[in-house]
Amino acid sequence: MPRQIKIFDTTLRDGEQSPGCSMNLKDKLDVAESLARLGVDVIEAGFAIASPGDFQSVQAIARTIRGVSVASLCRALEKDIDTAWEAIKDAENPRIHTFLATSPLHMEYKLKKTPDQVYEQAVKMVKYARNLCGDVEFSLEDASRSDPAFMYKVIEGVINAGASTVNIPDTVGYAVPEEFSTLIKNIRENVPNIDKAIISVHCHNDLGLGVANSLAAAKAGAGQIECTINGIGERAGNAALEEIIMNLYTRKEYYDMTTRIDSTQLYQASKKVTKATGVRCQPNKAIVGENAFAHEAGIHQHGVLANRATYEIMTPESIGLPHNKMVLGKHSGRHAFEERLAYLGYNIVEEEIEKIFAEFKVLADKKKTVSDRDIEALVSGFGSGVPETFKLDRFVINSGSSITATSVVRLITRDGEKVEKVAIGDGPVDASLNAVDKIIGGSEIKLEDFSLQIVDAIDTGTDAQGESHVRITRDGRTWNGSGVSTDIVESVIKAYLSAVNTMTFELEQEKTRSAV
Ligand code: KIV
Ligand code: ZN
Repeated sequence: MPRQIKIFDTTLRDGEQSPGCSMNLKDKLDVAESLARLGVDVIEAGFAIASPGDFQSVQAIARTIRGVSVASLCRALEKDIDTAWEAIKDAENPRIHTFLATSPLHMEYKLKKTPDQVYEQAVKMVKYARNLCGDVEFSLEDASRSDPAFMYKVIEGVINAGASTVNIPDTVGYAVPEEFSTLIKNIRENVPNIDKAIISVHCHNDLGLGVANSLAAAKAGAGQIECTINGIGERAGNAALEEIIMNLYTRKEYYDMTTRIDSTQLYQASKKVTKATGVRCQPNKAIVGENAFAHEAGIHQHGVLANRATYEIMTPESIGLPHNKMVLGKHSGRHAFEERLAYLGYNIVEEEIEKIFAEFKVLADKKKTVSDRDIEALVSGFGSGVPETFKLDRFVINSGSSITATSVVRLITRDGEKVEKVAIGDGPVDASLNAVDKIIGGSEIKLEDFSLQIVDAIDTGTDAQGESHVRITRDGRTWNGSGVSTDIVESVIKAYLSAVNTMTFELEQEKTRSAV
């Protein structure tokens, strides 16, 4: 009988903590919904005490997402634990996840505490958390560089204090699989009450071994793996959820373990996180990269046509990668379009389908056929739930190799007013965003990052669409936006406006809240 492993997803906490991966509240809720659909056991929704925004999103996820445990991270301090509890207490299954470092380096230089003081604090704070919440996880930060004998003592103490999960993080991605597997085995053999708790592992990817270490630990008896979608996370990231799942699935005879995960939801979950963060996976990323299932070389194509198993160890369908069954074009009706959306795994409210369908018709007029990637790109521009304070009405650019680029942009404001401005810039994109800034009064907004991808260029050549992602900052805060169009300058303007609209919406909401 295969052993059931729990999947603890920390995309919204460790993942969101990584540079450039911050998400707004609506996006976090969308990602949390995808995670619940995927079947993770625990969603770590954030670090409630980190900021009022973090608290709000942890609380919103705890209050809305069902069928899964919702955790908040907190330091082993009373005020952190109280805040975490306040944020998660309305969850169906709340979990307090508290941590304290146990390595000599961290204890001496960061905590400035002796091992005895650390032990005492860990035990006391787990007891404190356990008085609030029935499900407490304790993490020994930097466990892989801690003294094993001290670790056994802390683990035994926190289990006696009420921790039902003990997490062994490889915080700095220093471990190697054999050694990490031995560490888990030794914990099982040397902690007398270990059968009263689940051993969890949390591996970072600094040496590219996050997934390998997690799997080795699971094989050695760990019962929970902490991981993130697309492997996002601090520095080089965390172990990638999709890679762990497809390893367990593809090599079931070797691992003999199962999870609650529905692997056919992996592709959608990956797309959701890409959209929410604006951070794309590298094309050759295992499982969810653009090229993960592409067979370029002729000899491989020949083999795959003869028998897929020649070069394919798992099927695209097993991760929910859509394949074109049906061609959509300008004569396709709403019913066919809705069916395609459902097939691609989108669950979209009626009024948004209306808007996306209208955009689909515009696109179908420009292109002969509309591919699945086109539809995904279209959908990615919708669903933020953010009102359009500014909407692009039209733009004209004048640009060339020997002239200064000029752009005239007209926006429609939420009051229906049409405002037009002209600006010059370093190329058509810069000129257009300068014109937008003049209209919206955006002198304090900084464009931090901008990326453009051509969707389906290989299949459709010049018929392709541009999909842009931008990241803007103001007063040290960050917002993402995305936009799609057959015109690449238009896709950038749309992406910029979507980030500006999110920023405007959030700042207005905060102002209203603080006025109450
Ligand atoms: O990497 C780490 O050690 C962590 C803990 C707080 C679980 O993220
Ligand atoms: Zn971590």
